[in-house]
Amino acid sequence: MTEATTTARHSLWSEAIPHGRFPALTGETAVDVAVVGGGITGVTTALLLKRAGLRVVLVEADRVGSGVSGNNTAKVTALQSTVYSTIERRHGVEAAADYASGNVAAVERVAALVSEVGIACDLRRMPAYTFAFDQGELDAVEREAEAAARAGLPVARDRGELMGVPFPIAGAVRLDDQLAIDPVKYVRGLAEAVDGDGSRVYEASRVLRLEDGTPSRVHTDQGTVVAERVVIATHYPILDRGLYFARLEPMRSYCVAIRLASGAPPTGLGISAGSPSWSLASSGDLLIVAGRGHAPGTSPGEPYDELTKFAAERWDIAEVTHRWSAQDPTSYDNLPMIGPYLPGSSTLYGATGFMKWGLSNGTMAAELLTDLIVGRENPLAARFSPHRLTLGATPKLAKMNAKVAVDLVGDRLKSAEVQSVADVPVGEARVVRDGTGKAGVYRDEAGGVHGVSLRCTHLGCLVRFNSAERSWDCPCHGSRFDVDGAVLEGPATKPLLRRDPA
Ligand SMILES: Cc1cc2nc3c(=O)[nH]c(=O)nc-3n(C[C@H](O)[C@H](O)[C@H](O)COP(=O)(O)OP(=O)(O)OC[C@H]3O[C@@H](n4cnc5c(N)ncnc54)[C@H](O)[C@@H]3O)c2cc1C
Ligand code: FES
Repeated sequence: MTEATTTARHSLWSEAIPHGRFPALTGETAVDVAVVGGGITGVTTALLLKRAGLRVVLVEADRVGSGVSGNNTAKVTALQSTVYSTIERRHGVEAAADYASGNVAAVERVAALVSEVGIACDLRRMPAYTFAFDQGELDAVEREAEAAARAGLPVARDRGELMGVPFPIAGAVRLDDQLAIDPVKYVRGLAEAVDGDGSRVYEASRVLRLEDGTPSRVHTDQGTVVAERVVIATHYPILDRGLYFARLEPMRSYCVAIRLASGAPPTGLGISAGSPSWSLASSGDLLIVAGRGHAPGTSPGEPYDELTKFAAERWDIAEVTHRWSAQDPTSYDNLPMIGPYLPGSSTLYGATGFMKWGLSNGTMAAELLTDLIVGRENPLAARFSPHRLTLGATPKLAKMNAKVAVDLVGDRLKSAEVQSVADVPVGEARVVRDGTGKAGVYRDEAGGVHGVSLRCTHLGCLVRFNSAERSWDCPCHGSRFDVDGAVLEGPATKPLLRRDPA
């Protein structure tokens, strides 16, 4: 669990997640399926499996909904930026149509679960938009409108009239009847429905080790789940098997919620088609603006200031009420990876690679994983199999892994290096000589010094300080640690070693 020293921020939905609603796992428990990870993917999978008659245990490292599922822009939509033109270009029309059908079904599955389970999560139907700020972005919108239509979505073209923004836009593609929700209330509502009748939810229980077999054994520091099947729904997969880390590229983005002095927040779910891309949404009377994506471990600059400036140039803003950030991995071939964790495995499953559209993709993954586990045919199984071979994606794969190879051997932190702890300014971090090696040292506002090893506990790359979030982030696969080394985000499961350089 995150320690008090962490500076990680929380979204407007996740700041109020209670501690201690579900107990920590202790002792040994035997069930049909163990699900690791309490985000939308894990919780939805657990519920659908329970409904299929299986006994399920869900094990969450922190609190259900505290991961990316609680820290996003809360749009549940099948229209997703320029995803259809990208998938069509890389895989063809049929693949784009499969992606569309899975996501359309997922949006309606979320709406159905809200009403069946009776979750008060502020669900609103809204049009979703991919829009162009100017003529330069219009081509991308046009391509997306055509690809989305070919993929089977009932999209329309307009100039963003239903988006409710106070600035002109050059053109847009629209998909009606998508959803805005409170993602934390939704995910926690599902978890309440999982818990009971022989199935259980555990929080504050980080899975440290897995013995794959029949049955498999899932270990936390205090307990073990013995299960016939295991689903790894930890967002970035925590197991090093299957070479997922060589096929996934995380991107981190930043969000602000803003109270307006006058005017109203958007009435649609918008995202601009250009680069950089800006995402617009609302929650109650708050405006949400998101963007400023970058690879973890690279300098974020001043993302919150830039988002606020963007909003202030377009709306009459009173105050920024919340700031948060999160990251999501994209696969090397731009399709989610959902299915057997290893080729041919019938005991171990996983889902990842949602490209910042996991509220619907995670729900689609839950449907697909449930079908695979209970032995039902699913027409999307081959399309999203983690072990598909995408010919033509090799150059991208090679580029991703060349970057990781450089990060593994290279020290990208030289510019922030100082000779002694005394040189570390308050509220900042520096790399300091520690005997023959180096340590990462953060000085807190009270002058206290927090020293950690720079060696990521996942596969050994060197972590880098993120000044916007005051965390140590790994450039290789996106693990993040607080200033005392506690894991904020995987795939790492172990903390950074503490260092106490003089
Ligand atoms: C800035 C941003 C905005 C986004 N906006 C949207 C949006 O508007 N719409 C949309 O559809 N998608 C959006 N996304 C993407 C979406 O939020 C994610 O794809 C989705 O929430 C992923 O869900 P998940 O269940 O796979 O992961 P998570 O929600 O991260 O859940 C994984 C859980 O596993 C737990 N875990 C990790 N390691 C362990 C371990 N060792 N043991 C036990 N538990 C573990 C974590 O604590 C976490 O709770 C956005 C993403 C970002 C970064
Ligand atoms: S080496 Fe993989 S996340 Fe750090």
